[in-house]
Amino acid sequence: MLHLDRITKDYPGADGPVHVLDGVTLSLPPGGRLAIMGPSGSGKSTLLSIVGGLEPPTEGRVTLDGVDPYAADATALAAFRNRRIGFVFQDHHLLDGCTALDNVLVPALASGRVPIDLVARGSRLLERVGLADRITHLPGELSGGERQRVAVARALLLSPRLVLADEPTGQLDSRTAGDVAALMVELVAESGSMLVVVTHDDAIADRVGDIRRLRDGRLEP
Ligand SMILES: Nc1ncnc2c1ncn2[C@@H]1O[C@H](COP(=O)(O)OP(=O)(O)OP(=O)(O)O)[C@@H](O)[C@H]1O
Ligand SMILES: [Mg+2]
Repeated sequence: MLHLDRITKDYPGADGPVHVLDGVTLSLPPGGRLAIMGPSGSGKSTLLSIVGGLEPPTEGRVTLDGVDPYAADATALAAFRNRRIGFVFQDHHLLDGCTALDNVLVPALASGRVPIDLVARGSRLLERVGLADRITHLPGELSGGERQRVAVARALLLSPRLVLADEPTGQLDSRTAGDVAALMVELVAESGSMLVVVTHDDAIADRVGDIRRLRDGRLEP
């Protein structure tokens, strides 16, 4: 279960603090899926960063399965991000010099050597996203849609409780975007994870599930 309780976020600005989020309250049940839409600058990426343990809220509380990541020390916070959250960004964030499989295995590197069962899971995930014959390709040898599929497989390697995707299909044509989104939803459902997707695309939002709109730092009712 994910709970956000009256989250606010202020950033320092030249003319005093900039109020980006203004009391966001939200719950997502286990396995729940949510699309967040809203105009540019409305705070969508900021909200995902707060949920994902990347940026503490100014006020309010986030809990995932009852755990407040910001209540713990830096080591525990890093472990929270690594083990419980899977991230998919607009720009794939793959390592250029690493094969598709090595990129998928990156989340497992935090705990040292990658156990053999995770290598097998990584290959299986690449097969599931239709890249069985691209496992040893470098990111530069993949299409944009293929790179995002690798990013989706990487996000799911450790079966995180929550997958956060920030405009994951923003740079893809509409057909490729639909395919990538469908795969993401499918794999998230298989691993029993929750999913929060930020998107500007109505068709993608519809595929994800419930839609909430952020405007002026607040979720519309
Ligand atoms: N680190 C930061 N320091 C100061 N201001 C920030 C910071 N990050 C974001 N902001 C400001 O917070 C507001 C919300 O930014 P955010 O990136 O969350 O918007 P968004 O809804 O994701 O927009 P987009 O759809 O364009 O990606 C913007 O006005 C932005 O300038
Ligand atoms: Mg954004």
